[in-house]
Amino acid sequence: MISAAPISAQSVKLSLRLRTAPGLLGLFYPVLVWTIAAWSPFALLLTLLAPAACFYLASRLAQTNTYRRATKVAYFAIGAPALYSFLGGWLDSQRWIPYRANGVWVLLWCVLLLLVLIERPAAADDADGRPAKLAVAHGISAALITVFAIAHLANHLTGVLGGSTHIAVMRHLRVVYRAPVVESVLLACVLFQVATGWVLLAYRMRRPFSGWIGTVQNASGMYLLLFFASHVSAVMRARYLRHIDTNWVWLTADNLLKDPWSVRLVPYYFLGVLALAVHGACGVRHVLVEHDRPRLANRAFAAIAAGGGVIAVVIIVALVAGSLSH
Ligand code: HEM
Ligand code: HEM
Repeated sequence: MISAAPISAQSVKLSLRLRTAPGLLGLFYPVLVWTIAAWSPFALLLTLLAPAACFYLASRLAQTNTYRRATKVAYFAIGAPALYSFLGGWLDSQRWIPYRANGVWVLLWCVLLLLVLIERPAAADDADGRPAKLAVAHGISAALITVFAIAHLANHLTGVLGGSTHIAVMRHLRVVYRAPVVESVLLACVLFQVATGWVLLAYRMRRPFSGWIGTVQNASGMYLLLFFASHVSAVMRARYLRHIDTNWVWLTADNLLKDPWSVRLVPYYFLGVLALAVHGACGVRHVLVEHDRPRLANRAFAAIAAGGGVIAVVIIVALVAGSLSH
């Protein structure tokens, strides 16, 4: 439902800087990534600050809900680390088309910035439609993916014990998740999750700001969308087109702090694990609130999100250390 309320003077005046900042952060994200290899590993913090700033800007824009295109671009910019890996993975080592990720990147963000610049403010949309059945189906498929993710991330945690332990654990786990039936169901769930997540996100981004948790769920959902597109396609490309064993050796083949291409993988993987934990935490919180357990809901949210953060740090430190050791 479109409200008849006039657009407030404050929202019309929403500074141009606020609307264009996410697009600019997206445009210059690769520069932040290059500084890791060229300057210092501490620049990693900058690559994490950029999506964090876009998160803040997306919530500011969602609060007024009058510049919806700018809001979508801000959410999209949160996914810049995953998008940069996606484009790099698909474009940088192929010979079929004459375009490389960096060129496409600049063009893409310039077009998005232009679209934001020409956007006119729209009346605030009070739409509160929620495809509840789809959200439930999304939650059920999430449970199956989570079972795999727990085993998968536990496997990556064993990286702290060294590459041979990681490889040995993966060899055992593969017996289960690479069984044709299991792998087909898993990949079908991932596809379903992306498709239903896309629809849920489209609904959610139309709604006005409904609190920080809602914004966290949208932002982590957007990140997961781009993360899955990049991650699953990278694994399948390596496996079926280049016939590589996608194990620890593949993961740590290049120096993750010095190789100018591979440094992009550090913030990308870190945020992938964090986004999964935070997004799942929002889902669990929502279910507990619906069951009238608000205190438990907030505690569960904090515990899952914090646990995911710690796991993400340990996995990344092990991966980076592994990539430096040869
Ligand atoms: C692939 C990209 C994804 C996108 C774009 C996405 C987006 C969303 C959105 C917008 C919602 C809020 C629905 C609403 O309340 O209206 C949601 C809910 C949820 N998501 Fe995702 N999601 C994605 C992937 C995942 C993954 C990988 C998991 C966990 C493995 C997950 C778990 C959940 C759960 C548990 C809920 C709560 C469902 C409910 O309210 O019943 N999502 N997702
Ligand atoms: C640090 C983060 C991560 C790293 C380094 C990583 C690495 C890998 C590797 C090496 C594989 C290939 C496995 C094999 O050959 O058996 C793989 C597959 C896969 N990963 Fe991840 N992963 C990460 C996070 C995630 C997350 C958060 C998810 C979300 C659920 C995920 C979902 C998948 C899926 C669905 C596959 C395909 C499994 C298959 O069918 O073989 N990964 N990942």
